[in-house]
Amino acid sequence: MSTTSLPPMPPYPLLPKKPIGMGAELNEVRPASVLANPPVVEFRQVTKTYFPGQANQFTAIRDVNFVVEDLPDKGEFVCVLGPSGCGKSTILRLIAGLEPQHPTTSGAVHVLGQPVIGPGSDRGMVFQDYTSFDHRSVLDNVTFGLECLGVPRKVRDELGRQWIERVGLNVVVDQNKYPHQLSGGMRQRVAIARSLILKPRIMLMDEPFGALDPQTRMNMQDLLLRLWREVQATVFFITHSIEEAVFLGDRIYVMSNSPGTILRELEIEPSNKPSKDMQRDPRFQETVGYIRDLIAQLEENHRPE
Ligand SMILES: Nc1ncnc2c1ncn2[C@@H]1O[C@H](COP(=O)(O)OP(=O)(O)O)[C@@H](O)[C@H]1O
Ligand SMILES: [Mg+2]
Repeated sequence: MSTTSLPPMPPYPLLPKKPIGMGAELNEVRPASVLANPPVVEFRQVTKTYFPGQANQFTAIRDVNFVVEDLPDKGEFVCVLGPSGCGKSTILRLIAGLEPQHPTTSGAVHVLGQPVIGPGSDRGMVFQDYTSFDHRSVLDNVTFGLECLGVPRKVRDELGRQWIERVGLNVVVDQNKYPHQLSGGMRQRVAIARSLILKPRIMLMDEPFGALDPQTRMNMQDLLLRLWREVQATVFFITHSIEEAVFLGDRIYVMSNSPGTILRELEIEPSNKPSKDMQRDPRFQETVGYIRDLIAQLEENHRPE
């Protein structure tokens, strides 16, 4: 496998698409050759087998191919939708370069044109579980990455306070609190601030709102879209909520059951209303209904033997 930069892109052939509600289904998962810009993430024939050669050997994903286009000054919001256990976290952690998912069993994962060799500050991560440091205050959690980079306290605290406000927390009230004093939504705000303060090119989010109540979840979706438009990063967001994927995503990958693979790709128009209003929009509902039927039909065809 070559580790040098990828060859230039040929002219951009358009793939046929089927319009649905507020988007379209592509007739195939896009290959790199149809992109106008080099990919920011590329999976080529990626397979991950846990415990290879042992009695409990298990293939979580097989022959996964996809590309995320680098859209300068914008960044794409990519959602991966699939049932529990289909390999979504495996894919995300391969992008992050985190063990034991990294390295692949076969195939290649490239980020910004280079093979992934481990974690890097170009990729920020927010998990479903609340991963703040219990013994650190909100401010010290938010500024943790800057501290690791050796940024002086005065500078990082100033930036940290800005980010506390940007994610909708109150500096005066919240900066000295500890994680156990925060609600689930507030903890995820801290996790988002801790990640975005480092200006990652790619933000990896693994069901970050999965444990929140519906109202808080919608507020967090609105917040995330607003921040994403400001920071212009590529977001790679995993969920098993169709509504969440349609609300947030510019692009949705639909995965099959294990061994997981990407079966369908959809392009979705940006949401122009808050989450709770979008949910009532007929075109939004049509899109959600279409994807629900599509998944049901894919599951029919992909029953494990
Ligand atoms: N470290 C691991 N060792 C062994 N099996 C794993 C490991 N991580 C995940 N798996 C298995 O791989 C499959 C896919 O897991 P995962 O990527 O976490 O799925 P998802 O995020 O879609 O729920 C599951 O069956 C899971 O049990
Ligand atoms: Mg998972």
